[in-house]
This record gives sequence, structure tokens and C-alpha cells, in this order.
Amino acid sequence: MLCHCLVLASTVGLALASPVNRWYHESLGANYFQTNGFLGNQLVSSYILPDGTLVAGTAEWTHGNGSAAINDPSPFENHPDPFLSSGSVIVVGKQVLVTNAGSNTFSAFDIDPTDPARPMYSNSYPSGYEFPNSLGASPDGKYVCVLNAGSQNGFICYESSDSGWQHMPTWDRTFGLNLTTPPHGPVGGTPSQITFASDSSRINVAIKGHLPTDLNNPTGNFTSGAIYAFMVTSDAAGQVTLADKPVVYDAGLPFGLLEDMANPGVFFAPDPSAGYEAFDFAANASVAGTVPNQVAVCWAAQSNLTNNFYVVDIGGKANITEIAIDSTTLQGEILSQHSLGTNASGTDVSIFAPPSMPTENWMYVNAAAYESVHAYRITAPGKFSLFQRYRFSDQPKGTVSSKGFAGQAVYYKA
Ligand SMILES: *[C@@H]1O[C@H](CO)[C@@H](O)[C@H](O)[C@H]1NC(C)=O
Ligand SMILES: *[C@@H]1O[C@H](CO)[C@@H](O)[C@H](O)[C@H]1NC(C)=O
Ligand SMILES: *[C@@H]1O[C@H](CO)[C@@H](O)[C@H](O)[C@H]1NC(C)=O
Ligand SMILES: *[C@@H]1O[C@H](CO)[C@@H](O)[C@H](O)[C@H]1NC(C)=O
Ligand SMILES: *[C@@H]1O[C@H](CO)[C@@H](O)[C@H](O)[C@H]1NC(C)=O
Ligand SMILES: *[C@@H]1O[C@H](CO)[C@@H](O)[C@H](O)[C@H]1NC(C)=O
Ligand SMILES: *[C@@H]1O[C@H](CO)[C@@H](O)[C@H](O)[C@H]1NC(C)=O
Repeated sequence: MLCHCLVLASTVGLALASPVNRWYHESLGANYFQTNGFLGNQLVSSYILPDGTLVAGTAEWTHGNGSAAINDPSPFENHPDPFLSSGSVIVVGKQVLVTNAGSNTFSAFDIDPTDPARPMYSNSYPSGYEFPNSLGASPDGKYVCVLNAGSQNGFICYESSDSGWQHMPTWDRTFGLNLTTPPHGPVGGTPSQITFASDSSRINVAIKGHLPTDLNNPTGNFTSGAIYAFMVTSDAAGQVTLADKPVVYDAGLPFGLLEDMANPGVFFAPDPSAGYEAFDFAANASVAGTVPNQVAVCWAAQSNLTNNFYVVDIGGKANITEIAIDSTTLQGEILSQHSLGTNASGTDVSIFAPPSMPTENWMYVNAAAYESVHAYRITAPGKFSLFQRYRFSDQPKGTVSSKGFAGQAVYYKA
């Protein structure tokens, strides 16, 4: 009798001592963003369940600090849109990379493919210059470049190796833009995003122009921005070379740059000077389109179910607007629109396209001022709908979130 009771007690004890953090083995992948804490940055990882909902994974220190652009005339403080950029958190192969804008580094975490919302800190790497705000990887995952938007601006690149990322000094490129650390916004002539073309033929950098109201605008006139394209060539011996100088294309205020998955060679930029801009670099052609009643459309993602682009407005009702681009004329058409909520401050967006579910994509959008991530189901052109508000209280224990949280990236389980 006594013996039986002891066995029971120890079973109960074991159950109570089991870990609080759950391993959602049924998850289809993971969702990542950064807290951008000035006194310690964190990578927040969440599981993506089979119905698309997010549940808490882990919040892990990046071993670096965040920072934020000064949104004149406001003082230096954390705020939605701290980097004036897209791509501050990216997934490359089985790693998730995150910028530390206040430490001039980026950090790499290893993803366990069976448990992707519990990545392990691996190492931090210098960003080369100041205020790193965007990361871009080659499609094969061999190279990664980090963009900097501070007083020393430009990018440096790394090559993957068995012992981590190796700096490639011959690929260091500076822009010589007249910026400060931290830079001044809300636009301020700053670099926004670095990406590789889908055929790896070039590294593209989106650079914003100036608004007349930018306090760091010496002319007080609107000035246009640019897309810098640095050509990548490989010789017969397999030596890969990056052009010293970029080919320059005119742009407005590109806050990011996406290549059309269905029409390689066509590019799309969310751009608050109009709403959006589509480019065909081979023809040096571009078309700007408007998003009615926008305040500042600065982020975008593409769905490979609808092939449409979804742009996010930081102001007003924080609208998400769905845009179809005609790849021949570059003309856009607005198909649908939903609000994240008044004053939600919509920012980064990612789209999860599970191979196992060809009829649906899930879109995750940061509602920065609400400290929430909102999840939408995309089912057809013109159709997307909210299915989850993933609030701060739902996020991993230990998350030190703020209105300056940023970045959106997803990982697909094999
Ligand atoms: C982060 O900021 C704290 C407080 O200013 C400082 O002590 C620490 O060295 C910083 N860490 C890094 C990695 O920059
Ligand atoms: C650099 O920017 C500052 C602040 O906006 C401005 O006062 C200065 O004239 C600029 N310098 C040059 C060389 O353009
Ligand atoms: C700004 O725009 C005005 C009006 O178009 C023009 O007269 C002026 O020369 C411009 N200033 C500069 C510095 O480009
Ligand atoms: C594209 O055309 C614009 C003028 O329309 C010109 O300023 C720019 O240099 C051209 N870029 C290239 C790469 O040809
Ligand atoms: C967002 O959409 C609503 C209608 O759905 C519209 O009233 C509003 O002007 C739009 N723009 C902003 C910035 O809220
Ligand atoms: C949104 O922000 C504006 C400006 O700060 C404020 O006047 C308004 O009351 C806010 N609206 C809501 C619904 O919070
Ligand atoms: C969309 O992309 C995902 C991930 O790359 C892929 O697995 C899926 O098959 C794609 N779906 C379509 C409809 O192309």
C-alpha cells in the first residue's frame, strides 16, 4: 500500500516538473522577428501550427543591441519602423540571421529542422560599417550581405563555410551617402534593403530619396532615390567577382525591393512617394502606382498562390493593400484592402506558402504599435482575411518587446 502511494506521488511530481515550453512537433515551421531592444536585442521565435496560427516558441538574446533612426523632430527613441528598412531578419538555409543596429553586427542562429522555434545562438559578425538594417542572401545560400545605413554606409558580404560565415573583403562596398549614426528619418535618403537577383546575376540595393520635409534634406525639395545594381560575374575557374561600381536606376522612395516570383526580372518596391513602383531593369523601365489614401506604404511581400503583392501602410488605419502587377506593362491593379487597426503602425510582412497546402498562403504582418503580429489567410486573388492576433501576452515567456520590434521571416519544415 505504502509502495503504491510512493509510485503515484513520484509520477505526479514528474508531471509537475515537466518543461513549460512545448515542442509542437506537428508545427509546419516557424516565424521570427526581433525585439530591437536598445539594452539587449532578442530573436523571438514562434511555431506555425497546421492551421497557420502562431504559438510561443522562445525569445533568445542576440548578443547585440538595437537602435532606431531619429524620426525628426522626435528625439532618439525606439519606434515602429526603427530601421527605415526591410529584411532585418532573414532565413538562410537552416539559419536565421538578425541585425543588431546598435552594435554594428548581425547574429546567426542555427535552426533545428524538427524544432524550428527554438533556434540556437551560433555567432555574431561585424556589419563592416554602421547601423546595419538589412540582410540579403544569394538564392543558393552561399553568400550573405549586410547593408548599413549610418554615417559609414555600404555593405559587406560573407561566404558560408564549415566554420561559419567568412568575410569576403573584396566585396566591401561603400556608398558615401551623407548620413549620420543613427540616421535621420522618416525617409532621409537612407538605404532600405539589399537583395540578390533570383539568377544571382546582381546584388540590388534600394536607396530612398528625400522628402521635402526631411529635416536632413539640404535642398528642401523632393529628391528621387535609386536602385543600385552591383553585377556579379563568374569566370570559367568558378571565381565569382562583384563589380566595383553599381549600375544606377532611378527610383522614388523605395523602402524595399522584391523580385516577382512568377516573372523573374520584374521587381516591385513599396514606395510612400506614390504607393508602389514596378521595374524592368533590363529595359530601364519603371511605373509608379498609387495606393489611395495612403500615409506611407513601406513594406511588401508576395504570395506565390495569387502572385500578388501585399503592401503595408504604417499610418492611419494601417491598411494592407493587395496589388496585381502586369509584367509586360508594369501597371498595377488594386484588388483588395484590409486594415490592421487604427494607429496599429503596420510594418514588416512575411508570407508562408506551405508546400503541403497549395490552396492557401498565410501572411504575418507586424502591427508594431499594438506589439502584435496579425495573421491572414490568402485564399485567392482579391481574398484575404484575418484569423489571428498574436499579442504580446501570447508571445514567448521572457520576450522584452517594444513598439520598435521589427523584421518578419518564416522557416518551412522539410
Ligand atoms: C549593449 O548595451 C549595453 C548598455 O549600453 C552595453 O553595456 C553593451 O556592451 C552593449 N552590447 C553590445 C554587444 O554592443
Ligand atoms: C550633409 O547633411 C547635412 C545635414 O543634413 C547638411 O547640413 C550638409 O550640408 C550635408 N553635407 C553635404 C556635403 O552635402
Ligand atoms: C527646389 O525647387 C525649386 C522649385 O522647383 C527650385 O527653384 C530650386 O532651385 C530647387 N532647389 C534646389 C537646391 O534644387
Ligand atoms: C535609366 O534611365 C534614366 C533616365 O530615364 C537614367 O538617368 C539612368 O542612368 C538610366 N539607367 C541605366 C542603368 O541605363
Ligand atoms: C485605409 O482604408 C480605409 C478604407 O478601408 C480608408 O478610409 C483609409 O483612408 C485608408 N488609408 C489609411 C491610411 O487609413
Ligand atoms: C490615432 O492617433 C491619432 C494621432 O495621435 C489620435 O488623434 C487618434 O485619437 C488615435 N485614434 C485611435 C482610435 O486611437
Ligand atoms: C510556394 O512556395 C513554396 C515555398 O517555396 C513552395 O513549396 C510551394 O510549392 C509554392 N507554391 C506554389 C503554388 O508555387
